[in-house]
Parts: sequence; structure tokens; C-alpha cells
Amino acid sequence: MEKSRITIFDTTLRDGEQSPGCSMNVQEKVRLARQLDRLGVDVIEAGFPIASDGDFAAVQAVAAAVPRPIIAALARAAKHDIERAAQALEAAVRPRIHVFLATSDIHLQHKLRISRQQCLDQARDSVRYARTFCDDVEFSPEDATRTDPEFLLQVLDAVVQAGATTLNIPDTVGYTVPAEFGALIRTIRERVPESVVISTHCHNDLGLAVANSLAAIEAGARQVECTINGIGERAGNASLEEIVMALQVRADKYAFETAIASEQLYPTSQLLEEITGIPVQPNKAIIGRNAFAHEAGIHQDGMLKNPLTYEIMTPKSVGVPDSKLVLGKHSGRHALSLRCEQLGYRYERRELDEIYRKFVVLADEIKHVHDHHLLELIRETGTDGHRIPPGRVESERAAAVAAGAEEARRMFPGGVPAEFSAASLPANPEHQPEQEDYLWGV
Ligand code: KIV
Ligand code: ZN
Repeated sequence: MEKSRITIFDTTLRDGEQSPGCSMNVQEKVRLARQLDRLGVDVIEAGFPIASDGDFAAVQAVAAAVPRPIIAALARAAKHDIERAAQALEAAVRPRIHVFLATSDIHLQHKLRISRQQCLDQARDSVRYARTFCDDVEFSPEDATRTDPEFLLQVLDAVVQAGATTLNIPDTVGYTVPAEFGALIRTIRERVPESVVISTHCHNDLGLAVANSLAAIEAGARQVECTINGIGERAGNASLEEIVMALQVRADKYAFETAIASEQLYPTSQLLEEITGIPVQPNKAIIGRNAFAHEAGIHQDGMLKNPLTYEIMTPKSVGVPDSKLVLGKHSGRHALSLRCEQLGYRYERRELDEIYRKFVVLADEIKHVHDHHLLELIRETGTDGHRIPPGRVESERAAAVAAGAEEARRMFPGGVPAEFSAASLPANPEHQPEQEDYLWGV
């Protein structure tokens, strides 16, 4: 099946930066832009040069430091904005001017105080002016999803005539829903020439930014605007990592590819967290600290037998060091025994029972049992188990991984990440019947 290429337009340094507490200085923007380059994004929107001298300098610095991707600069549909954007992009190998103007009646009447005709003229003239500086001009009709569709199409026709090469359709206030947005993008795709790229830019006010972006892609959008960790105005923008991994993990449903090196997702997310000091919510998909953590005993038991039971992608495929089995009061003997083995102690069933009873009491008290607590508990119990030579547990796990890979290929019709690690526990010396083993995890 021939796959269409989706252009990943990262706006972490522009729209992302507009979220409270996320503004970045020039050095920080350059540092993050270098990481976005390693991640493989196609377009970096580096800032809004008219907004401040600092933002102008940041766009200049990113343009000079990162030659591979297209570097975009935002401009209102106004002469001076466009000139500043063009100046800031002088050092860019592949510059893009991104012009925007609101088109919804609510914005025209209450914010801009202009008529539809004035809006149409201003949009067309601004794109024409931007084209005098740069061959690559993107136009965004702000608040597109609350704009009268017929007027929206008139504006889009006008800016295409004036030379826009990408039409970005923003759901500025996160108002649309997937079926509606998909239908709008399909209508636009049918109306404008093939050579013009349709783009999507979704905000997350109803938690639908990623779903809306995917619906747009299915309807013909070939560029998606998004941010690392989903940061952005109010509830944020569509999250880059979620879109990329949805396309990758469900390749059986989506015949699209991106140039993203997915194992750079977690390092990029971590760098952004470090720079802004804004922590990622623990249960955030793909890169949250719990995204690959398992505490419930049944889950841990399944994970240890074969990670495919509770993980649809490997931690390694997104750059997370390894799945974490969190030892707490919901954990079962299976996870406990593995952690003991990793610490160098292998126990027979009855010996483990004794440690397990003490472990549950402790977990009730302190919530998470860390390795040093467990070692203390092992010492207190006085059960030495069978000391395992260092390194042996890992080599046994590696053998089990190889055995699991074949099964993984069978289970994922869309294809398994090349580095898939279907680890299962080393064969248990005393083999438990299936059901007993299942209960053992509880
Ligand atoms: O949300 C929005 O409408 C924007 C535009 C400037 C593209 O960020
Ligand atoms: Zn936005």
C-alpha cells in the first residue's frame, strides 16, 4: 500500500510558547530547535517576530542554527508584520512566512471591526505582499471552524490566487468535532488546486485536538500543526507525539508516514519540560511518566509474560528507557519475584510467599516500595533465596524476548516496531498451570 507523507509542522516555539509559563529565551529556543531537528520535524515555527525584539532575535537565531527544516515565522495580515517576519528569516535556508487573519463574523465584528469584504481584501493583499519576499507562504484563516463555510472558501480562493502555497485551517478555539472537521477539510480539498497543501491546526479545548487532526488527515490534509507535550494557548495544541504514534501504531488504519524519529519523542519531551519547568501530567499518552508503568498485579503478571498483553507500543520505540513495574499494594508475586531476581535473589514459591506478605504490609504504609526497601525487607526476612550471578537475569530475559518476537509479528497487523522487545519471564522452574499463574499475579 502506497503511503502518503504527512508534513509535521511543529509550533512549540510559537503557539506552544504562548501557554502561560512556557515562554523561552533565544538560547532555549535554539536548544529546543536543535532537538526538533533531531526528532525530524519538517517545519519549525520559530516565533512571531513582530511580537518582541526577543522573539525576532529567536527566529533569526533558529534560522541560522538549524538549516535542514523549513523555518516559519508568523505575521498578522499587515505590512510591517510581514516585513519583520521576512527580515527575521533572512538566514533561513528554507524560509516560510505564515500570514493569518481571522475570518469568523464574531472576530470580524468584535475584534477586528472590519467587514467581510475588507477581510477578504486584506487577506489577499497580505499574501501577495508576503510572496514578494518568499516563495513559501502559508495562510491561516483564524477561527476557521466558526467561519461561514461559503465565506471561508471565498477567502481561501482569493489567497490561493494571490500565491499562498499552504492553507492552514485552524480550529482556534477547539470547538469542532472530528466528523464535522473532516467534512470541512474534504470540501476545501475538493475546491482548491492539488498543488496547494491543506494543513490542520487544532486546539484542545474539548480534548479533541488529536482526534480532529487525524480526521483532517483522513479527509485530505497533508500537513499537521502540533506541539511537543501538547502545550499551547489555553488547553493546548494537538500533541505531536500522540499524532505521530497514532499513525505509526495504527498503520493498519492510516496509510500515512512521517519523517519523525519516534525514539526521539521522549528526549524531546523531557528537554521541553526541563526548559519550561512545566511538568508533563503523569498519565499523558506516550511520554507521561506512567505511560509505560504498571502497578496492578494482573497487569504486571501479563506484562512479565508478554508485554503485548498491556502495551501497544514498546517504550523503546518512543525513547522511554524501559517499562516500569511500580511495586505497590496492587502488585502481585510475579512482579515482586522479578524485582527480587533483578536485585540478585531468586526464591522458591514458599519463600516468596513470606516476603510477599511483608511486602504488602509495607506497601500499604508507604505506597511505593523502592529497591532499597525491598533489600531491607529481604535482609529482615533472613531468606537468602538463591543468589543469582550478576547479569544472568538480563540474559535470560533477552532469550525470552527473542522467543516473543515471532508472536508479536502475528499480533500486530500494522507491523511491529523493529526493536520490539516481547520480554516474558524466564521459564519458571516450577511451572504453574495457566489459571493459577493468572491468580498469582493478583
Ligand atoms: O490557533 C490559531 O488560530 C493560530 C493561528 C495563528 C494559526 O494559532
Ligand atoms: Zn493556535
